[in-house]
Amino acid sequence: MSQRETWATRAGFILAAVGSAVGLGNIWQFPFKTSEYGGATFLVVYLVAAIGIGLPAMLAEFVVGRKSNLNAIGAFEKLGFRNWKWVGVLGVGTGFWILSYYSVVGGWVLRYMGGSVTGAYFADPAAYFGQVSAGLDALALHALFMILVVAIVAGGVEDGIEKATKLMVPSIVVILGVLAVWVFTLPGASPGYSYFLSPDLSQLSLSVSFDPLPSFSGPLTDIIPFAVSQAFFSLSLGMGAMITYASYVGEDQSLFGDSITVVVFNSAVGILAGLVVIPLLFVQGIEPGSGGAGALFVSLATAFAELPAGRVVGVVFFGVVLIAALSSAISLLEVVVSYAVDNYGARRPQIAAALGGLIFLLGIPSALDTAWLGWFDTLAYQLLLPVSVLGVLVFIGWVFGRPAVDELLNGSSLGGGVGMTWLWLVRTVVVLGVVLTLALGVQTLFF
Ligand code: PHE
Ligand code: NA
Repeated sequence: MSQRETWATRAGFILAAVGSAVGLGNIWQFPFKTSEYGGATFLVVYLVAAIGIGLPAMLAEFVVGRKSNLNAIGAFEKLGFRNWKWVGVLGVGTGFWILSYYSVVGGWVLRYMGGSVTGAYFADPAAYFGQVSAGLDALALHALFMILVVAIVAGGVEDGIEKATKLMVPSIVVILGVLAVWVFTLPGASPGYSYFLSPDLSQLSLSVSFDPLPSFSGPLTDIIPFAVSQAFFSLSLGMGAMITYASYVGEDQSLFGDSITVVVFNSAVGILAGLVVIPLLFVQGIEPGSGGAGALFVSLATAFAELPAGRVVGVVFFGVVLIAALSSAISLLEVVVSYAVDNYGARRPQIAAALGGLIFLLGIPSALDTAWLGWFDTLAYQLLLPVSVLGVLVFIGWVFGRPAVDELLNGSSLGGGVGMTWLWLVRTVVVLGVVLTLALGVQTLFF
């Protein structure tokens, strides 16, 4: 059997992981959800969720991947716990599910890049979104986006994913940075910053009453589950992606340091995107807070239509969004491709094409009707992601246990105390946080 692939360099893994994390979640969802859920107040809750729950959970996924050097499903078996294979199956399934509609939105982005060149959406941005976001147009662009994803993944871990993300990730950061500076110079931007960055702490309340079952009320009942799921989605957790990427990493690399890099960059790009998008809306007098799938597209298209040099800005902006979406989508396809390559040793390009085709098929309903897309997204957020992350956390904390600490500390100069603290956090606070998220999510879904 041939040698399993690995990253060529340490930076290769970090950039690929950052590329996976930084995506549509940061640019398409985060600024708008932040507006919808109360501006900076949501930002505070989100950051607590990302650092307090997302970071320890990412370390758990890294440990599963690097310890086993296998795909997200095989990993659990190889570590000696066949009964926990369902966690991997759920993760891979969730990745498959999410990529199906992620790619549809990726197709919209491609469309809007083209539309910026020709000025197609300038006359009536809302009507344009209605035209291109559903139906055969959306289907064709969904296919095109998927072909791009397959082409990169077909190239392999080192020559495909690593080379691509080495180029993509720095471009995202630099271009968004330039855009943020440019927006800052526009008249009328300043209320956007205070909206985005000054929290209303009175919003941060949650009360529980027992009657006799516990039920929750207060503004946090919506904010917490959304913030936690958004942190999972945004950090690419619960989909086998970080397990898979870490499975190509050597023992000499500090997982701890790498996870911090990913969380910092992911949060920074989300905030940077907010610093571009939210003040831009204020500049154009567009009401933030009207969320929904079309928010980014309709409101930004409206802004670009009215700005001088709107075409150039539009191409550049949607270009960054496209790069970010691609570098995330490849990690989702790699989850399933890695499973197939590990198990059947078949040829990577053919596998990538076949699985890309299946994912394309699953995305057809979302491409034809945005109501389906919303439904796919809601199910992923409220149920699949938290359950899947919870599975990894319980496995690492309570089943695998101590050996996880040894694996975490390999290649790092940290003392055992840090490792044990992490393990106990995972076992207690982090697990409880996810359980609370699920309870609140279920309460809002069904009651
Ligand atoms: N993290 C990506 C984003 O924020 C989405 C993603 C989820 C990518 C899961 C890979 C795995 O857009
Ligand atoms: Na993200």
